Amino acid sequence: MTKRHLRLGVNIDHVATIRNARGGGHPDPVRAADLAVRAGADGITAHLREDRRHISDDDIAALVETIPAPINLEMAATDEMVAIAVRHRPDAVCIVPERREERTTEGGIDVVASRDRLASVVRVLKQAGIEVTMFIEPAPAQIEAASAIEAFAVELHTGAYCNAIAGERERRRNEIAAAAALAERLGLECHAGHGLTYETVGPIAAIPQIVELNIGHFLIGEAIFCGLEASMQRMRAVMDEWRRVAVPALQS
Ligand code: PXP
Repeated sequence: MTKRHLRLGVNIDHVATIRNARGGGHPDPVRAADLAVRAGADGITAHLREDRRHISDDDIAALVETIPAPINLEMAATDEMVAIAVRHRPDAVCIVPERREERTTEGGIDVVASRDRLASVVRVLKQAGIEVTMFIEPAPAQIEAASAIEAFAVELHTGAYCNAIAGERERRRNEIAAAAALAERLGLECHAGHGLTYETVGPIAAIPQIVELNIGHFLIGEAIFCGLEASMQRMRAVMDEWRRVAVPALQS
């Protein structure tokens, strides 16, 4: 499962955040998705939140219809969101916890505590031909539970790693590496994301079992200064260099 090529999923939520600050249609997150794919993104990620604070239902429909790359819909495990996913059939769904008052997704979903509910969500989405990922903290019990409910993948939350100070950051990174190795042993595809920047992405890209990173806020923020294509290309270059050094002999 380990691959030399590390996929970059570009999260376009915050293009919609800027659009929604004024209402209207500009800047259009679907146009940003198209640009990102032309510039080499391996997929597009968008989070349809219960309060629709950034991405809208129409954005999801347009992304699935027009973007020639895999669409990964992040969503809470609610009946409303499951129905939307089944209607639009993105390539993948990433189940995230959601609290209305949070600024961003603050922690991973507790698969252990919500096992039965999540197992039934996985079943419904799988029947619709959608791959299901669980966005979790890098904890062995969560990975084992994700495997037990037959998720396709786990996405390891890198927020605590990114926010940690220097010495602590290495410990957090080692936790993620151990979690990725366990995920692979259990047959789960392993992704990672949240809070990644040019500075923090390298050591995560170097973990060979991780095959996809989902990055949004930093890339969109940097795009203000250098353009989306350039911010993505620089991120890609850092990812690829750390990957090349860490896993030189793997198949691409
Ligand atoms: N992965 C998941 C599951 C997320 O919820 C988010 C944030 O929406 C990201 C990745 C991207 O995080 P960031 O915007 O901090 O790069």
